[in-house]
Amino acid sequence: MGKKIFSGVQPTGNLHLGNYLGAIKNFVDLNNDKDNNCIFCVVDLHAITVKQDPKELKNNIRETVATFIASGIDSNKSIIFNQSSVAAHAEGAWILSCVARMGWLNRMTQFKEKAGKDKEKASIGLYSYPVLMAADILLYDATHVPVGDDQKQHLELCRDIAQKFNNDFDVENFLQVPEPLIQKEFSRIMSLKDGSKKMSKSELSDLSRINLTDNKDEIINKIKKAKTDPLPMPQDIKELDERLEARNLLGIYSSLTNSTLENSVKNFAGKNFSEFKEQLAEELVKKIEPISKEIKKLLGDKSFLDEILLDGVEKANLIASKKIERIKEIIGF
Ligand code: ADP
Ligand code: TRP
Repeated sequence: MGKKIFSGVQPTGNLHLGNYLGAIKNFVDLNNDKDNNCIFCVVDLHAITVKQDPKELKNNIRETVATFIASGIDSNKSIIFNQSSVAAHAEGAWILSCVARMGWLNRMTQFKEKAGKDKEKASIGLYSYPVLMAADILLYDATHVPVGDDQKQHLELCRDIAQKFNNDFDVENFLQVPEPLIQKEFSRIMSLKDGSKKMSKSELSDLSRINLTDNKDEIINKIKKAKTDPLPMPQDIKELDERLEARNLLGIYSSLTNSTLENSVKNFAGKNFSEFKEQLAEELVKKIEPISKEIKKLLGDKSFLDEILLDGVEKANLIASKKIERIKEIIGF
């Protein structure tokens, strides 16, 4: 049986190698399986949980669509749309926020990380962010949700919300309880400057990440400058527990070359980092440069990108508006 796939990416600029290896690469594989029905959402409502520049936001929405297409997602096979254009997402989020419990949300580690020390100043949207994410998924009866490792907790919350709704209103299996699709290995790509921190859009230093719009020279330069340790390349996979930067770079290499971490360690055991880095940069350029060029090309044709969104919005709306109507009936509206 084919899967119903739903996933989302925030249009907050600087899509990077972590987004690609952790999520988008997986989207492409799922989209290529003709038995699956895939929906990929540009989650602009999620983006405004932190301050956005309106002009940049508009460009970033298009850039996210361009990144999907440039990475190999076929808009004829999948629905690509932006969240704010389908009203059911905001409606659904409100209704589900009356199902979700404070205690559940209080456990969310992403909120704690993103809100930082001054929680009082965080937006309410940042706090209820995972409820909106649950609405996204549940409106489409998604069976599987491909995400990076950092979203696992939000998916568990989504499952809890679906189950509670079904129980509270005595509608068994009405909301589909989705399964996360998280890659077993390399599901968390770390910063090139600090192997204990996730590669992230919001990290100040651009040298900490490979952006999907980086050109060949930028990629080579960033890998050259990536943090390592003074020892030669590890001889044994066990060493990686304490050598976080080496683990991350070898993980990236393994993911790009579809090899296991063990094999990659064996390949470079005892060599100098510089030799390994050359090979890693070569693999990255091979993978990322074509995507980067294609994104830039697509960004030159705004009406093409807008049409993809318009078409996607229409299709998504058809599905989501039916589901929200049923939800309202069940509630007693
Ligand atoms: P973020 O602000 O975390 O980059 P996004 O909404 O853009 O948020 O994330 C899109 C997808 O990319 C999600 O599935 C997320 O889990 C994944 N992702 C983000 N950063 C990483 C990373 N460093 N390693 C692996 N996957 C990641
Ligand atoms: N919260 C996800 C992230 O930060 C993005 C997202 C929003 C999402 N809605 C979703 C992912 C629905 C999967 C399904 O990465």
